[in-house]
Amino acid sequence: MTDAAPSPLIIGIGGTTRAGSTSERVLVKALEAAERAGARTALFGGLFLSKLPIYDPATAGASDELTELLDGVRRADGVLIATPGYHGSISGLIKNALDSLEGLRDDPRPYFEGRAVGCLVTADGWQAGGTTLSAMRTTVHALRGWPTPLGVAFNPSAGPLFDQAGDLAQARDQAQIDMIAGQVVDFARMRMGAPA
Ligand SMILES: Cc1cc2nc3c(=O)[nH]c(=O)nc-3n(C[C@H](O)[C@H](O)[C@H](O)COP(=O)(O)O)c2cc1C
Repeated sequence: MTDAAPSPLIIGIGGTTRAGSTSERVLVKALEAAERAGARTALFGGLFLSKLPIYDPATAGASDELTELLDGVRRADGVLIATPGYHGSISGLIKNALDSLEGLRDDPRPYFEGRAVGCLVTADGWQAGGTTLSAMRTTVHALRGWPTPLGVAFNPSAGPLFDQAGDLAQARDQAQIDMIAGQVVDFARMRMGAPA
């Protein structure tokens, strides 16, 4: 008889301050999928991220929110990030949060090292969905994270993403969410030495 495997902690970073933010809603759906796969989760959503100071390399901009975000990333076994496509790339809000992870540079496990990172995008055009996803995966590489094999771009202008009940309207969209969350959780379990 072996001890039960510890439950990985998967954190979500993403969204906008807009009411009903689609990027935050898909991030929440991905965290729910991670929970169904056996993970614990924590969300750093758009409103929280808007309270982070603009990253200042001179001061590293200490604040309670920054401390909370850095501690969350330190404790995370896996990460999900969701951004809207703004002018063909990552929004300033999300990029500022990622730039702020410079506060983890001198940690024994810097940035996203050793963690899988699932990238999600919502954009009103497929072109921005692709370019933004590519930029996110490049940034995750720069932060020493392991982008999951699957990255997901949604286009809310191509048809409603959510139904009246707040569920994803298309089964294929839910399937993509389940897959990307599952890849983050599986990688976390592998790194924790437990069977996936
Ligand atoms: C400042 C700004 C820039 C945007 N730029 C683009 C863009 O270049 N291409 C695109 O397809 N959509 C663009 N959009 C649309 C957003 O990507 C889209 O509405 C997204 O779903 C918004 O995310 P949210 O619902 O989480 O706020 C832009 C929206 C804003 C507010």
